[in-house]
Amino acid sequence: MQKRKLRNLEVSAVGFGCMGFSHGYGPGPGDDEAIQLMRKAFELGCTFYDTAESYGAGANERLAGRALAPIRNQVAIATKFLMREALPGVELRKEIRARLEASLARLGTDHVELYYQHRVPESIPIEEVAGVMGELIAEGKILGWGQSQASEEQIRRAHAVTPLSAIQSEYSMMERMFEKDVIPACGELGIGFVPFSPLASGFLSGKVTARDTYTGDDVRRVITRFQADNIRANQPLLDLLAEIAKEKGATPAQISLAWMLHKKDFIVPIPGMRKMERIRENLGAADVLLTAVEFERIESALAKIEIHGNRTDEDIAKLRNIR
Ligand SMILES: NC(=O)c1ccc[n+]([C@@H]2O[C@H](COP(=O)([O-])OP(=O)(O)OC[C@H]3O[C@@H](n4cnc5c(N)ncnc54)[C@H](OP(=O)(O)O)[C@@H]3O)[C@@H](O)[C@H]2O)c1
Repeated sequence: MQKRKLRNLEVSAVGFGCMGFSHGYGPGPGDDEAIQLMRKAFELGCTFYDTAESYGAGANERLAGRALAPIRNQVAIATKFLMREALPGVELRKEIRARLEASLARLGTDHVELYYQHRVPESIPIEEVAGVMGELIAEGKILGWGQSQASEEQIRRAHAVTPLSAIQSEYSMMERMFEKDVIPACGELGIGFVPFSPLASGFLSGKVTARDTYTGDDVRRVITRFQADNIRANQPLLDLLAEIAKEKGATPAQISLAWMLHKKDFIVPIPGMRKMERIRENLGAADVLLTAVEFERIESALAKIEIHGNRTDEDIAKLRNIR
């Protein structure tokens, strides 16, 4: 697979979002199968794996660590620490260091290629986080750092202290809010952009129906783009994808990913996938090259399509209160 650069970190053009094996999408395959799937992806050219301390309360890091152990020096691992607000009495520098050490222990490695601040709340001083990240880079415990769902202003402030390698934020044909300011800022500052939920939680594959049901911690129970009326209202987007996919001999999921890969050479999506055929399909999107004419046609068609529903942290938090 072609490679891309997140600042100075070279990774495959499409990475692997490991979260779904432990968190966010209801029951998945068992650990042994998940490990095999992550290794198969490497055989297909994937060298970039994304996890976080919060996915399954550390279980996802343990799983990714086991899967990647035999190929550790050939892949880049990204993980994250999550603090939704400043914790009273907690010394930030100590806390981040302790969180990283715990992640490294679960992953079974002495460093990670990328360490993200999972959310960037105003109550946590950005410059202090950036300073700690600079120390961790100097010590070789992390090769680069990033923020998730940060605003342009937060990115500029952080980057001024310790240059950022990547911003990981939601981006897909259904969620384009960061096109306005964050993605251009990443281009200007030489920061990579890593779209999460690049298939809008699978919606853009065209395989979702209003009759599908979800259980457990599956975010599709609460995010509004999976409400039956929104699924129906978003049909024009799926029709566009199906049309382009047919012409290109590709699938709608591949066109969704090829579209963002075409946008900027510093964009590296990390789809989540728990089945072999989806791994082949999504990684294969790196070989689906759109011409300038095809890309412009998609862009102008998208501009006329209204998107219904979204995915917000507030909606996802409702999962805690439903059975
Ligand atoms: N920073 C953050 O706050 C944040 C938030 C969310 C996610 N993430 C990261 O980003 C990664 C990707 O996010 P995501 O999992 O929401 O991405 P996604 O790829 O948009 O959605 C994953 C879902 O789509 C389905 N899917 C994937 N490829 C498909 C295909 N070709 N055909 C049909 N269905 C397909 C998967 O189904 P199956 O599971 O059945 O294969 C899964 O249910 C996560 O794994 C995580 O590492 C980060």
